[in-house]
Amino acid sequence: MAIRQIVHLPEPILRKKAKPVTKFDKDLQVLIDDMFETMREAPGVGLAAPQINLPMQLAVVEYAEDEDQGQGAPLPKKKQYVLINPEIVKVSDEKVIGIEGCLSIPGLVGEVERYEAIQVKALNRHGAPVKIKVDGWMARIFQHEIDHLNGILFTDKAVRVWKPGEDKDKETPLD
Ligand code: NI
Repeated sequence: MAIRQIVHLPEPILRKKAKPVTKFDKDLQVLIDDMFETMREAPGVGLAAPQINLPMQLAVVEYAEDEDQGQGAPLPKKKQYVLINPEIVKVSDEKVIGIEGCLSIPGLVGEVERYEAIQVKALNRHGAPVKIKVDGWMARIFQHEIDHLNGILFTDKAVRVWKPGEDKDKETPLD
């Protein structure tokens, strides 16, 4: 496995629509493993192929639902997803605002409104169709990563953006 280089704004690929994946060969398996490794090292909870300069509709997600399990409880198990050619097919009526950052936009965070729950149709790493239902933070991560595959960044949707460490209430929104 290898760490791939993460590109930052204003790298043009971050603004382009990625192309569907059609070959599920050995190279793809290596790439997916590299993306998980790159994401963990960053560290992040999701990574989309355009962020490592590849115009492919491919994203990886790894996140442990942060449930209150009490002291001494085992750490929650991390859930992993590979999303290939994903499509959001159903969304909740409810939307929620939460704080996001992005490995391709270092030094900025923002409040973004997302669907509380979504249903996604995608292909897994072997090209088999899957349908995934997610809610809460996992749904937020999915929407952020799927946006990347369409050239959309969280700063496009954020209701306010600021630099971490600064008091956001005193901060002038950047967009
Ligand atoms: Ni991102």
